[in-house]
Amino acid sequence: MPATHDPRPIGVFDSGIGGLTAVRELFRQLPHEEVVYFGDTARLPYGNKSKETVTRFSVEIASFLVRQNVKCIVVACNTASSHALEALRLRWELPVIGVIEPAARAAVALSPHGMIGVVGTLATVGSGAYLEEIHKLAPAASVLSRACPLFVPLVEEGWLDHRVTHLVAEEYLAELRAANLESLILGCTHYPLLAPLLHELMGPGVHLVDSGAEAARATAQLLAERGQLAAAGGPRGPQHHFFLSDEPRRRSFGRVAQSFLGRPLPHVTVVDQTDLPWFERAHAIPPHTGGIPE
Ligand code: DGL
Repeated sequence: MPATHDPRPIGVFDSGIGGLTAVRELFRQLPHEEVVYFGDTARLPYGNKSKETVTRFSVEIASFLVRQNVKCIVVACNTASSHALEALRLRWELPVIGVIEPAARAAVALSPHGMIGVVGTLATVGSGAYLEEIHKLAPAASVLSRACPLFVPLVEEGWLDHRVTHLVAEEYLAELRAANLESLILGCTHYPLLAPLLHELMGPGVHLVDSGAEAARATAQLLAERGQLAAAGGPRGPQHHFFLSDEPRRRSFGRVAQSFLGRPLPHVTVVDQTDLPWFERAHAIPPHTGGIPE
């Protein structure tokens, strides 16, 4: 047991509520820890945005969490972990734990022949972050990646076992299913909810790696090593705080949040958007920068 304890909360953020899959694991693995969660529901999805934009959003949210006096930050969002981890680590001294390295490590350990698949958003797959991290650990590994952009809206709709989701998954996974994989990294906050379907399609020989669960494990290990675990609290248990940048509109929000978190989502605070820094920078776009590049 470490000699010291740190009662400060763990900060966790995601582009929305998908990061609650990582919080669920933090609750399971670190039951005495307090969590401050920020879900950027106003700007979701991150998965089709540029590195610059995702980095800017991530720095803003991390600043918010640092102001909440967190002892470390878990970047539960795979897209933000792929694009912004370095920028966050350069800016703050507190530990910043992403999902990429822990998930890559788990996949390498589960794949003796180095046959690893990765599924994620367009941004995560396009960044090559998983490929790079896997090759650091296992240079000879054979990595097959596939962006699955329709999975996020299907999960948000609650269509976990819907025939449409089956069809989409069959289409996305065709090449991966033929590739003799040993493990498949679920490189997106939302995909653990599709695990039963993905398991059925990939077959029992393919280990599914939950990036949020691996990040939670890495966080537990890091806090233990640094003597920064929280001590067991009083009878009320740890007090968690959940912040969103926009009010949930969908009727299914509560149900979906509960399936991510594994329990009903407690009280949520919607952050007054005038408190967040992006409005300070609002400016007109000069005409020559407009338009989408071919
Ligand atoms: N949280 C994102 C991720 O894990 C998925 C949702 C989004 O595109 O923002 O990559």
